[in-house]
Amino acid sequence: MRERGEEQSMAVPEQTREVTMDKITSLAKRRGFVFQSSEIYGGQSGAWDYGPLGIELKNRIQRFWWKEMTQLHDNIVGLDAAILMHPRVWEASGHVENFTDPLVDCKKCKMRFRADQIPEENLVSKTCPECGGELTDTRKFNLMFKTNIGPVDDGSGLIYLRPETAQGIYVNYKNIVQSNRMKIPFGIAQVGKAFRNEIVTKNFIFRTCEFEQMEMQFFVKPGSDVEWFNYWREQRWNYYKKLGVNMNKLRWHQHGPGELAHYAKDAYDIEYEFPMGFKELEGVHNRSDYDLSRHQQYSGKDLQYIDQDNNNERFVPFIIETSAGLTRQLLMLLCDAYEEQKVADKGNDDDYRTVMHFHPIVAPVTVAVLPLMKKDGLAELAQEIRGELKEDYATDYDQAGAIGRRYRRQDEIGTPFCVTIDYQTKEDGTVTVRDRDSMEQVRVPRANLSDFIKTKIKAYKRQA
Ligand code: GAP
Repeated sequence: MRERGEEQSMAVPEQTREVTMDKITSLAKRRGFVFQSSEIYGGQSGAWDYGPLGIELKNRIQRFWWKEMTQLHDNIVGLDAAILMHPRVWEASGHVENFTDPLVDCKKCKMRFRADQIPEENLVSKTCPECGGELTDTRKFNLMFKTNIGPVDDGSGLIYLRPETAQGIYVNYKNIVQSNRMKIPFGIAQVGKAFRNEIVTKNFIFRTCEFEQMEMQFFVKPGSDVEWFNYWREQRWNYYKKLGVNMNKLRWHQHGPGELAHYAKDAYDIEYEFPMGFKELEGVHNRSDYDLSRHQQYSGKDLQYIDQDNNNERFVPFIIETSAGLTRQLLMLLCDAYEEQKVADKGNDDDYRTVMHFHPIVAPVTVAVLPLMKKDGLAELAQEIRGELKEDYATDYDQAGAIGRRYRRQDEIGTPFCVTIDYQTKEDGTVTVRDRDSMEQVRVPRANLSDFIKTKIKAYKRQA
């Protein structure tokens, strides 16, 4: 049943204003998604803190990915490996030798640049793109953070903070085959922190020194790798569709011969059109048998798979990797969800609402419960109804200010459903449910509320 609503008459979505990284950064701070690390000390570059809404969003993205990988694929299991690993791991993986960026410094203004990110003519003429000063020769700079384990700091306890989660999976591959009786093809999924000493950290949380990855390594028989590679490319593309991302903003980028990582036979990035242009969101890589062959060589352990269904044939599996940045995906969703939408025509700033169109499955708050008035028992009734919803949904409660303003506050954090408790609720036990995207309101019996929201979430489709 459709119902009244004070903003319906002015809800005429027509035109939107541009999304910029400054707007995203400002909203993220203002509403408690992301804060600068150590801000009261002037900030720590390359590191960010996730506030109350940020951690909710991050956890939900992680859960969505985890379900997609493990629950919906019978042959993928999870792992949580340690961040600190034996230093030989990083020799075997090639990171000690190859995980470098080309670096140049300006002798005058002391700015530091990645040589592959400044114009060719500046490199050739050795002039700083910022101040025109003289640039140093290009040198290789390893991105791994080093630290020391144990009481003596003499280099004997050298240890790295992992720059990717993938290696934790490779070194556990045999354990998992044996303990969980996994048969090829199968995958291992992991979510966790990774650290890189990035030279350039700009664009908010896009490229940071501390970040989180969601990686899945899929072990296959050599020869079937191309087929599985194509399968995983399709799966990963469809994941973003399910997540309600604007698919017009996604594209594939295949790595050319000069771009391929030292381990890769073939690689594609899924790129998203961020406010600063198309940038990598996640990578799908055919890593061949590089990883397990190298770990076999460096550890001296036999990492061959024994195919008991095929005359005990032995081989080193090929690996198809899907490697997504969790924190980068969060930034993508902030950009993708953001809209300043025209809802009235009165010629002032109130004409626009800022609305985050998060998929309800990842929205930090799913339902906000709002009493129309604080008085006449409506606040108590609203708290009671919130209590009924808490078990199933992340809820919020707001009784401060005009109802229109409260809707706007919820729009700005992307709450898909606002439940309003009014005088009619006292009479007939119905509440209004306001849809964030259409701003339409319907009356729903209180007893059906939880199921109603569940059905709406299941049926959710992003509006163009
Ligand atoms: N195991 C393969 C691997 O780590 P990658 O392309 O270096 O591949 C995978 O990283 C993903 O991790 C990227 O697509 C990106 O989403 C995320 N990522 C990489 N470096 C990052 C950084 N410095 N800050 C935030 N996210 C990063």
